[in-house]
Amino acid sequence: MNKLYIMDAEKCLNKLPEKYFQTVYIDPPYNTQSKKFEYHDDYADWDVFIASKIRKTHKVLQETGVLFVSIDDNKLIELRLICNEIFGKDNFLGMFITRQATRSNAKHINTIHEYVVAYAKNKKKAPAFEIKRLDIPFYAEKLLPLMAEIKKAHKQNGVVFANNLLKKRLKDFEKLEHFSFLKNYSVVDENGEICFATDLSTPNGKPSELHIEEIMLHLPALKTRGWSSKEKFIQLFNENKLLFKQGRPYEKHLLSESKDNAMSILNFYSRQGKHDLAKWGMENTLSTAKPVELIKYLIKISQISPHDKILDFFAGSGTTAQAVLECNKEDGGQREFVLCQIDEPIQNNSKAVDYLKQNGCSNQISEITNLRLKRLQHVFSFDYQKIIEPEMIFQAA
Ligand SMILES: C[S@@+](CC[C@H](N)C(=O)[O-])C[C@H]1O[C@@H](n2cnc3c(N)ncnc32)[C@H](O)[C@@H]1O
Repeated sequence: MNKLYIMDAEKCLNKLPEKYFQTVYIDPPYNTQSKKFEYHDDYADWDVFIASKIRKTHKVLQETGVLFVSIDDNKLIELRLICNEIFGKDNFLGMFITRQATRSNAKHINTIHEYVVAYAKNKKKAPAFEIKRLDIPFYAEKLLPLMAEIKKAHKQNGVVFANNLLKKRLKDFEKLEHFSFLKNYSVVDENGEICFATDLSTPNGKPSELHIEEIMLHLPALKTRGWSSKEKFIQLFNENKLLFKQGRPYEKHLLSESKDNAMSILNFYSRQGKHDLAKWGMENTLSTAKPVELIKYLIKISQISPHDKILDFFAGSGTTAQAVLECNKEDGGQREFVLCQIDEPIQNNSKAVDYLKQNGCSNQISEITNLRLKRLQHVFSFDYQKIIEPEMIFQAA
């Protein structure tokens, strides 16, 4: 069940089951001492504040689980040291640089980025951080039009024409940085899909013919190589991944399913978080909301299954809930979110307070979280429990 805890993160973490979450994403107050945010951001002992929560996070992560923490230059070093101590240096997975803005007010270096630090509960068991290229905007922008053009050409003029057109288009891609992988995707299949075909002979096996009655396939012996196993052929046949070129069998890898490792520089601009809130009429509520796409990306690279449990105990406007719901909508998954937001009154943003008042809400940040969840319910069908101290549980309408 999805949950929204309205209480201090520490108390919430104490109530959560151990080894339960696959992904924990947090965007804590960065302790900038700035007075311009809706939440207070001046902690006498930020390191202690964050360390005790990260220690508890380690307990609620399952063995394959991953922690992501958004942070800026101000507290990066302290955060890394704290995480090294609690998770172990060896479980540091890496760090993303996320583009933040085009200008900053800093005196010397015009800092236009933040970070997302990633730690595994156990690096050996953590997911490989692979993501479908089509889920990375940088690739999708170029690959989707190519795939559509080839599919159309295949439908209108047949497979030979489509294959020739693909060869021409691949020439154009040769010069583009980051697209060298594409040269392998040189075949158009019988459905007009672009794919990469890998040979199914092996240098290990002895040359001998292969007869597979189940799928009515007979392959004569090769001169020096053997064939892959019978089971492999049957499996590929069942998955519709067998492709024949001049009578010879190949394994088909679709471009639409091609994956890449996560890259360390991400182009999700922070201001997008505000635009995402604007879709719900809530653009003036929380100025530091993160982009939904950033959190979707983190959920996807750290995924073990489409039923993963995802926690964010500095929920703010509830961006993580929207990211979870959008991932579910895209692949029919049943991921669940647990959010926690302390009952802290909104500061420095009278527009937010007025807006909440107009919507019958009080001036707490948790009201922003709850309002977004209610708006989300109009689009995504889901339930959530609201748990308010001391232990009052409401089934949100
Ligand atoms: C940077 S904001 C998070 C913004 C969020 N990522 C979003 O996209 O809207 C940090 C949030 O943590 C909340 N917070 C601060 N201390 C907390 C605590 N001890 N327990 C729970 N939430 C807390 C603040 O009220 C604030 O809403």
